[in-house]
Amino acid sequence: MNACTHAGMEKHLCSAYDMPRGPEPAFPILHFVAFFFVASSIFYLEWQNLRKLQGLWAPPIQLPPSSWTVNTQGRLGNQMGQYATLYALAKLNGKQALISPKMQRTLGRLFRITLPVLRDRAALPVPWLPYLLDDWMRDDYRHIPWNYVFFTGYPCSWTFFHHVRDEILREFSLHAGLRDEAQAFLHRARRGRRGLTFVGVHVRRGDYLRTMSEVWEGVVADKAYLERALAWFRARYARVLFVVVSDGMAWCRRNVDASRGDVVFAEGWRRRSAEKDFALLTQCNHTVMTIGTFGFWAAYVAGGRTVYLANYTLPSSKFLLVFRPDAAFLPEWVGIPADLSPLLRNAT
Ligand SMILES: *[C@@H]1O[C@H](CO)[C@@H](O)[C@H](O)[C@H]1NC(C)=O
Ligand SMILES: *[C@@H]1O[C@H](CO)[C@@H](O)[C@H](O)[C@H]1NC(C)=O
Repeated sequence: MNACTHAGMEKHLCSAYDMPRGPEPAFPILHFVAFFFVASSIFYLEWQNLRKLQGLWAPPIQLPPSSWTVNTQGRLGNQMGQYATLYALAKLNGKQALISPKMQRTLGRLFRITLPVLRDRAALPVPWLPYLLDDWMRDDYRHIPWNYVFFTGYPCSWTFFHHVRDEILREFSLHAGLRDEAQAFLHRARRGRRGLTFVGVHVRRGDYLRTMSEVWEGVVADKAYLERALAWFRARYARVLFVVVSDGMAWCRRNVDASRGDVVFAEGWRRRSAEKDFALLTQCNHTVMTIGTFGFWAAYVAGGRTVYLANYTLPSSKFLLVFRPDAAFLPEWVGIPADLSPLLRNAT
């Protein structure tokens, strides 16, 4: 028995569903065309969105559930410090480290780095927590509980990453072309001499001349420091060749004594670049550094003995609030104190 045969309300309701089927002319085809048009448009738009979304990511498509990254500030030396610190802290806390495309470009030009790239961090719907790092390791950095951390600051201290030194050195291993070019330079500089010990000498000048004196109550390396540093190596190695790299080469030519024939100025490149300078320093056996993170990294990567400029600011300098010498220089490195008398003369 059909429910719609009942009288009253029910019958009335039933009739609403039981619509008579009229003739079906051209309508279905129109419907079908419209449906096809709408469906394909939606599909196309979704596909475009998907492609856009995929474009945000370098290799993996999803953001790992706990991803840490770091700001990209300054030039090569600073970015190496930011990279190594992120690498070590993320590893310590069991998080995925990701770097910016800009850092990938700066460091990827020289090194065979492996951290994946985070594209368009700001556009991601992720609550990034800015986290300002001091330039030395602290206990609370061992247990950072957040999942999306964006480190800021200029960390460049071995206290963050020296326990994973081998991994950091692998990350900062040179592309073969750059290494070969640096080796070819050293080979020419040898001029047939055998058993040479190469000492890279990095003399940082440029903007630091003003920054140190005007901002930090400090000095840069002077002629006397370089003489003492070179003498330290001459006293310990029978046949040394010093390879001078600088952003102030004219000053170096006037102030580094090359009369013994054991100094070459790294100017033989077809086109000089910070990358080539850096590669050259790392291929030397030992390092004389002056000031700045570029020199630190050259010494750290070269891995031999290192002489550095020590105590190059007045004790009252605000520099010492953000920079701790014992966190900046490895304990086995050899410090030669700077001559601060120019600052004292200016002050009186
Ligand atoms: C010193 O550096 C040169 C050039 O990179 C290299 O050929 C040589 O093996 C190094 N010597 C030592 C003892 O590491
Ligand atoms: C730098 O100064 C500190 C504090 O006066 C001193 O302990 C240290 O030995 C100095 N470093 C060098 C290399 O002279």
